Amino acid sequence: MTSVELRKQFLAFFAAPARRHTVVPSDALIPSGDPTVLFTSAGMNQFKDYFTGRRTDLSRAASCQKCLRTGDLEQVGKTAFHHSFFEMLGNFSFGDYFKAEAIRWAWEFLTGTLDVKGTPSPDRGLCLALPAKKLWVSVYEQDEEALALWRALGMPEDRIRRFGQADNFWPANAPANGPNGPCGPCSEIYFDADGAVQGQRSVEVWNLVFTQFDRQSDGSLKPLPRKGIDTGMGLERLAAVMQGVETSYDTDLFRRVIKAIRSGRTKKTRDDRESTNRAIADHVRALTFMVAEGV
Ligand code: SER
Repeated sequence: MTSVELRKQFLAFFAAPARRHTVVPSDALIPSGDPTVLFTSAGMNQFKDYFTGRRTDLSRAASCQKCLRTGDLEQVGKTAFHHSFFEMLGNFSFGDYFKAEAIRWAWEFLTGTLDVKGTPSPDRGLCLALPAKKLWVSVYEQDEEALALWRALGMPEDRIRRFGQADNFWPANAPANGPNGPCGPCSEIYFDADGAVQGQRSVEVWNLVFTQFDRQSDGSLKPLPRKGIDTGMGLERLAAVMQGVETSYDTDLFRRVIKAIRSGRTKKTRDDRESTNRAIADHVRALTFMVAEGV
């Protein structure tokens, strides 16, 4: 399945009558009217006013957002899945549906089934068909509600992991360190080509954030009157999973760029050539999008 098809299918699944999301175009990489960030780093950025309740003309949205993150820059090229520029598929609820639907629909889209035992989805033409036995999930250690929902879908106990706020809270470690404002526990869905749990080849494909608290200056977590859903799935990772390749650099999103770099580089360097090629490919892509926006 190509990355173009993946983008389309994700948005079509969430726009379909059973889920009724408004498909919103990607915001620019340089966010307009948000002085708190230099670059758009997540799908939820453009919806901040909806999460806080300042805007209410939309209750469900889905998007494929161009993102740029510099936090992992040193890892880019050295690992299978780190990028500076990437695209994030996401579905969002602003005071509308909450954990039950977010979890159920994520499972349905990835597997084409309504539960772990494999009841077919009526919309399976809009879904992927990843095998349940290659997926495992994590929940925040204090989020009994998310745990119960995964159990209700039939997820076996040994395929559910409970992690702390460093892994399963958004923003990471928000309860301990902030920032203040909307935040919440998250549940992550992992794919492992070997069917292992926390295996060598496990890759996190989807992060479901349950935006339910407003962190206060004293560190307390005040329940939000309008709870929200903010999910993010890396298109590059999902493409690698669907195309059965080991890294996102081997997908259709990168293959031709990598090939061109390989054939254009004639001098050997002291760097490991493949990781250098990958870093160049990543940076060329990021720079192309930034230049296109006038940076
Ligand atoms: N905001 C969350 C993330 O960036 C989910 O979209 O992972």
